[in-house]
Amino acid sequence: MNTEEPEIRKGLNGVVVDTTKVSKVNPETNSLLYRGYPVQELAEKCSFEEVAYLLWHGELPTDEQNEEFCKAERSQRALEPNVKKLIDLLPTSSHPMDVCRTAASAMGASHPKAEDSSREANLAKSISLFAAFPAVVAYDQRRRRGQDVVEPREDLDYSANFLYMTFGEEQPPAVVDAFKVSMVLYAEHSFNASTFTGRVITSTLADLHSAVTGAIGALKGPLHGGANEAVMDTFEEIGIRKEESKEDAAARAKSWMEDALAQKKKVMGFGHRVYKHGDSRVPTMKAALDAMVKHYERDEILGLYDGLQAAMQEAKDIQPNLDYPTGPAFHLMGFDTPTFTPLFVASRITGWTAHIMEQAEDNALIRPLSAYSGPDERHVGK
Ligand code: SDX
Repeated sequence: MNTEEPEIRKGLNGVVVDTTKVSKVNPETNSLLYRGYPVQELAEKCSFEEVAYLLWHGELPTDEQNEEFCKAERSQRALEPNVKKLIDLLPTSSHPMDVCRTAASAMGASHPKAEDSSREANLAKSISLFAAFPAVVAYDQRRRRGQDVVEPREDLDYSANFLYMTFGEEQPPAVVDAFKVSMVLYAEHSFNASTFTGRVITSTLADLHSAVTGAIGALKGPLHGGANEAVMDTFEEIGIRKEESKEDAAARAKSWMEDALAQKKKVMGFGHRVYKHGDSRVPTMKAALDAMVKHYERDEILGLYDGLQAAMQEAKDIQPNLDYPTGPAFHLMGFDTPTFTPLFVASRITGWTAHIMEQAEDNALIRPLSAYSGPDERHVGK
């Protein structure tokens, strides 16, 4: 390489730009720690509220701290009237991620501490976003179905209430637990594209809601959060036949994958920039998907899942990422496919805001260099 020419690391692939205490993604050991705790243990033993507290404070809450935190969260769940009015102005043909982006921005515009970036104010704003986003996501899906808003219930925990506001009735414990697992697993993943977007915006000393709004924009893309919707689109394209055997479904999925790869298609739900031997979160979410398949007696979904995965493994030795099991799990829970990435938003609000606070507390403006490859200097002729 010519010593003058700088080394370009497109996509910042493999570049370490800062430290973080929030989480550790370790592709060598295929592990993920939130503030030192393995995410698999948190998904099994903790509520999503406890995990949110952990991400923001660095420690799991005591019973007393958890009680106080949950009281604060439950008191802020209702959909703000001005946010509901704004959502109602957006066409039901708009993408639900655009509704999320708009709602986050509107919440910022009307927040009394909008321009206060102190730790105390940022924590308060993080809790209000965390508490309010289920209502945004639930209402948006309901209005698209011609259903009225369902008011939150303070006697249900975060996950049970989220499902209640979406479907208008309490969901079975098995479904609530699988949903809680998905929220814990989606919460945080170090410097992924949307989190890094939030940190870049925070590094200019812009406010927390601006950073979250930018992060939502980044998450929408199918190479990132939008992949869980794309996974379901794949299942629909192959065709979901409720009475079909697992084996027959797998065979159809296998041939779909072989065709897709022959056409050099990128199949969403597979591959990862950091994990190269499989996404550490997949086994835990796959168990949650298995529980949903059993609960709803939908073996054909598992056939499609296994068929696609086996064909990708055989052809390119590429493993599934978290979006792969989560898409069909959300489908079985009853969510519309365009709602899947907004569910990712509701969870990742916690990781994003933990990083926003970390960036703000030890800030440096993020401004990389570029190597110019345009025309040499020239002058206007006239
Ligand atoms: C998330 O970063 C995070 O942590 C994100 C996330 C989080 O929690 O925040 O984990 C959430 O975004 C998960 C990823 C969801 N995205 C997808 O499922 C989209 C499909 N995946 C790919 O686009 C891809 O795997 C990326 C974008 C995720 C990562 O790609 P890289 O690291 O940039 O690698 P690459 O695209 O250059 O692929 C390397 C090779 C290529 O083959 P060649 O062209 O060199 O022959 O692997 C192939 C790719 O074609 N490949 C795929 C593939 N993923 C990689 N081929 C087909 N289908 C795929 N999905």
